[in-house]
Amino acid sequence: MRPIHAAVIALMLAPAVPLAVAAQDGASPAEQAVEVRHGYMTALSLNMAPLAAMAKGDVPYEEATATMHARNLAALGAYGIEMHFLPGSAKGEVEGSNMLPEAVQNLDDVAAKHKALADATAAAPAGVVGGQEQVAAVLKSIGGTCKACHDQYRGK
Ligand code: HEC
Repeated sequence: MRPIHAAVIALMLAPAVPLAVAAQDGASPAEQAVEVRHGYMTALSLNMAPLAAMAKGDVPYEEATATMHARNLAALGAYGIEMHFLPGSAKGEVEGSNMLPEAVQNLDDVAAKHKALADATAAAPAGVVGGQEQVAAVLKSIGGTCKACHDQYRGK
């Protein structure tokens, strides 16, 4: 085999490696959906919390830090999390899931509620510039979109 062929074959095989690793993990698509939802929601929370601390005055306002968290929230908001609201991954169907089955039955509404989060977070990086009160206003607008979806589709 000439070297060029070996290189091409190596390239073709490369993507198979992570796939094989994922398969070995043994998690079903529904279990993975729960895992990614939890990771996503945790990432949202971990970027909301420092903004909440700033809004309350527990930590001093710092534009660079506020902007960084706002950008992370915007990036998360742009991610289509509803693709992970899979049939068979609701509360009672997979261990650890706290997604109500209604979410799967109303995916259009879930997507609309997620769109509200995407819009609110998209405005966040510019919105948090200026001081504590700006951060508080942004938090309120994003927080309302979290609650709207939780009230409907998250178990108690
Ligand atoms: C489009 C709907 C939707 C939006 C918007 C949404 N969530 Fe959630 N959230 C859910 C659902 C559904 C669950 C339950 C997921 C599960 O257990 O599989 C959840 C769970 C959570 C959890 C618990 C995660 C865990 O590990 O058990 C946290 C924390 C959370 N959300 C925070 C947030 C924050 C903060 C926001 C807004 C910045 C937000 N969510 C926006 C639907 C949403």
